[in-house]
Amino acid sequence: MLRVAVCVSGGGTNLQAIIDAVQNGVITNTEIVGVFSNNPNAYALERAKSAGIQAVSCSPKEYATRDEFNKAFLNQMDAWNPDLIVLAGFLVIIPPALIKKYENKIINIHPSLIPSFCGTGFYGLKVHEEALKRGVKVTGATVHFVDEGTDTGRIINQKAVYIEEGDTPEVLQRRVMEQAEWVILPKAINDIANHII
Ligand code: GAR
Repeated sequence: MLRVAVCVSGGGTNLQAIIDAVQNGVITNTEIVGVFSNNPNAYALERAKSAGIQAVSCSPKEYATRDEFNKAFLNQMDAWNPDLIVLAGFLVIIPPALIKKYENKIINIHPSLIPSFCGTGFYGLKVHEEALKRGVKVTGATVHFVDEGTDTGRIINQKAVYIEEGDTPEVLQRRVMEQAEWVILPKAINDIANHII
């Protein structure tokens, strides 16, 4: 069984897609061992609890220094002893010590076709605002391994999504989630759990 820890910051629709995929057999050989949030008000925490998964919230504001938060974050991951850490809408810079310790064991979902619309400052709705501003006709989502850079790790999977006339950032965000993120993130986990990648 692949032991998976999921890190979240907000609504947690990607977390829900993973939970559902484990429950309905789209993901096999996998157990979600814990959900970690930097935001105590993240709805994702409720989703975890409803599914009977241990949910831990740990805000940087609770710590005197960033270093102390980073240590607490690393300690929680170590306590769960995960084979894979999934960043599912996690808006925290991953401490280098964690990246080093969990090399090739951390994956992230990003709401664009990397290398477009990625890197520092590109997260959530902002990604879709920029894509619409530039007039691109095709966008999508990417699952990739996490390295020391921002959205620079090796790509695991991507899925394209068409932009439609009159799209708002919110409408586009929803379509990218439905058509791409909620499909390729569970698939990547299943592929890792079953040694397909
Ligand atoms: C998702 O669209 C995810 O791709 C994005 O945040 C959203 C979280 O939604 N992540 C990033 O932008 C990371 N750079 P969710 O909480 O409903 O899963």
